[in-house]
Amino acid sequence: MADTNPLSNCHLAFVGCGVMAEAIIAGLLRRKLVGPEQIVGSHPRQARREEMHVKYGIEMFESNREAVTETAPEVPDDSSVVVLAVKPQRLHGVLEELKGGFVKEQLVVSIVAGARIETITEQLLHASVVRTMPNTPAQIGEGVTAWTASSEVTEKQESQVCAMLEALGKTVRVENERQIDMATALSATGPTYIFLVMEALIDAGVHMGFSRHVAQDLVHQTMLGAVLFARESHKHPAELRNMVTSPGGTSAEAIYQMEKGSLRTVLSKAVWAAFQRAESLGKTI
Ligand SMILES: NC(=O)c1ccc[n+]([C@@H]2O[C@H](COP(=O)([O-])OP(=O)(O)OC[C@H]3O[C@@H](n4cnc5c(N)ncnc54)[C@H](OP(=O)(O)O)[C@@H]3O)[C@@H](O)[C@H]2O)c1
Repeated sequence: MADTNPLSNCHLAFVGCGVMAEAIIAGLLRRKLVGPEQIVGSHPRQARREEMHVKYGIEMFESNREAVTETAPEVPDDSSVVVLAVKPQRLHGVLEELKGGFVKEQLVVSIVAGARIETITEQLLHASVVRTMPNTPAQIGEGVTAWTASSEVTEKQESQVCAMLEALGKTVRVENERQIDMATALSATGPTYIFLVMEALIDAGVHMGFSRHVAQDLVHQTMLGAVLFARESHKHPAELRNMVTSPGGTSAEAIYQMEKGSLRTVLSKAVWAAFQRAESLGKTI
């Protein structure tokens, strides 16, 4: 039977092994898409290097550059993906350290928020770069990651990126970096909108007289159920809402108050403001 796993001959290096790198590594190993011998990581702190080695059996390096060199393809069938997973404020120094250290066939995947492909290609002197924008539920494999690639990235590398990012949840390929900024505002900042609404609903439950944990259980399952119902029914949200809005009923009363308070406009303005902020932050990294 033909091998359909795009990562089967792929060696992966994670530069900066924090929360997100660990989420990807754990997901890849759990789904047996790669073995520990295919993964290396780098980290400045020895305690973290030991932790990652003991937990996942992967080789860890102090030097970022050594981790990159270690994964460089040795035979034509091999491929190599280097994931940049440091915080934005560390990126500059890391790119300086890695500059000129790649072979042409290696692919660089950046999960660093705001870092433009052009910045990475220019500073690394390397053309094959994928830029991604995950969100926090990625930490439990329920995220959504938007990604886009420079024109030098091959089809094979694109399928490797997809397979790798699926360790974090769903993936959506977008057309360009403007759409990465749009995804930053909608899906990467998205959990913030949801958490605020969640918190407000729980507080409203407490205000009526529920204990906090009962209010929390009711709100969590209502939000989860509403999302799954919307996804499975394939109906427009307004249609689902209309189904439970009877004349003079409780939903009609609640909707009237939400519209009066401009909830829809506030959300729209929040997303737009986050988009503008993502665009301006991108110019500073
Ligand atoms: N967390 C999310 O849900 C999320 C969502 C979207 C995008 N992102 C992006 O993902 C990237 C990583 O985020 P994260 O949450 O995984 O951050 P994180 O947990 O802080 O991971 C970054 C790791 O890099 C290490 N580090 C610091 N300097 C380094 C250097 N010079 N070389 C190599 N490693 C170095 C840090 O070590 P110390 O702990 O010692 O500082 C830390 O362990 C960020 O750029 C962020 O914008 C994260």
